[in-house]
Amino acid sequence: MKYTISNLAASAAIFGSALAASGDFNVLTMNVAGLPEILQGNDVPGDKTVNSKTMGSKFSEYNYDMIHVQEPHKQDHESNHANQDFNYHASIYETDNHPYRTATSGGVPFGSGLNSLSTKYFFNYNRVKWNVCSNASGADCLTPKGFTFMRVQVDEGIYVDFYNLHADAGTEPDDLTARAANLKQVADYIDANSVGNAVVVFGDTNSRYSRTADAIRVFRTQNGLTDAWVELIRDGVEPTAESLCDNPSKTDYCETVDKILYRAGATVDLKATHWGYESTKFLQPDGNILSDHNPITANFTYNPGTTLRQSDFWGGPWGNWFSDVPKLTTLSKPKAAAITVRGANRLDGVNVQLADGTTFTHGGSGGTATTLNLEANEFWTEAVLCQGQKDGHTRNFYIKATTSTGRTAEAGKSTSDCRTSTAPAGWQIVGFMGQDGDEVDQLAFVYAPQ
Ligand SMILES: *[C@@H]1O[C@H](CO)[C@@H](O)[C@H](O)[C@H]1NC(C)=O
Ligand SMILES: *[C@@H]1O[C@H](CO)[C@@H](O)[C@H](O)[C@H]1NC(C)=O
Repeated sequence: MKYTISNLAASAAIFGSALAASGDFNVLTMNVAGLPEILQGNDVPGDKTVNSKTMGSKFSEYNYDMIHVQEPHKQDHESNHANQDFNYHASIYETDNHPYRTATSGGVPFGSGLNSLSTKYFFNYNRVKWNVCSNASGADCLTPKGFTFMRVQVDEGIYVDFYNLHADAGTEPDDLTARAANLKQVADYIDANSVGNAVVVFGDTNSRYSRTADAIRVFRTQNGLTDAWVELIRDGVEPTAESLCDNPSKTDYCETVDKILYRAGATVDLKATHWGYESTKFLQPDGNILSDHNPITANFTYNPGTTLRQSDFWGGPWGNWFSDVPKLTTLSKPKAAAITVRGANRLDGVNVQLADGTTFTHGGSGGTATTLNLEANEFWTEAVLCQGQKDGHTRNFYIKATTSTGRTAEAGKSTSDCRTSTAPAGWQIVGFMGQDGDEVDQLAFVYAPQ
């Protein structure tokens, strides 16, 4: 069954007040078109298609929760047959049955060669091209490589930002410079768009810890990410000596350029519990490998935060990301003392002032403001958001805030597409996260214990 984003969001609204849950998920990353030498010859037409279909059926059979694939382009594998370098992702999709998948063709002109296949609903998907490329080895500048971002609803009230990437290849000085710029570009994007959030980056970094000029450590130093392989297989020590892998690899100890890095967030605890090469699960019927990259997998457990949690999101992916979570993690016993909501035809702005004077304001200054001052023993416990379309973009049109004593403040115009977020019993709303500009395009609520 295939879902569209809008009907899935609508059905999710039914579960709006359910509590955040614990559980686990697993991920796989695979550079899918890195064919073994013997199959690259054009005297075996069709094999890449057959192999792509085999990969697709294995993706289904093993049912990984999230798969990131990278497909090199024609120029990466000197093929003379135009047809042979057609979009192999289409063949993978033919035999795979993950319910949520990124679009492989159409609007994206052969795209960045990056795609994702998921058992989980995701949104705010964005493809970003590298700012810097190098022709020194291969021809990375001829094809638009880059990275992708998506926010995944792992479970009710459990969100994780997933990044796929395919960094510049090669080891010439220009390659190393380009690749460092690529990884820094992802790190900066994480700083801007995943502030306060749990993050998993998995893809082809083309980097090795053992090559000191490779800038792979930027994810740890700038974003606080942990490499699950370093953590679980290498006892937390980044290697300095090269250790190349066989394919299929018989040990998890050797280093590959494909990586899985992650961090927890205050509203979502995340922990890697397993990391491994999956190569022996991805063989052709005759035992040959399907790709010259060993695919890698990791398992994660997740738990809702103990001091902060969050509601689901409502609205569309426009404007800039904001999150009150980093500030809230520094406060003890935050409590809303006043709620101000602004709106006219749509929701212009939201504001909460905490008892300690901390103020969170998002959106613009348009519309009419309504303020509700809360009593000392009164908590903000529920919020209704209604969304609609303006200029073809989904945004929030309306908010109604309700306190523990039943008092309300509202702003904007209600629509038929609404969502109620209720704080878990004994919890309250103390802040926000989402995307804004002059208006509040997308919004979720941050909960803290009362
Ligand atoms: C890489 O090579 C292509 C094709 O020759 C050229 O169009 C492009 O400008 C080059 N880019 C860089 C950064 O050298
Ligand atoms: C990883 O997760 C998958 C899917 O839930 C599960 O089948 C597998 O046993 C897990 N592996 C480990 C080592 O926990």
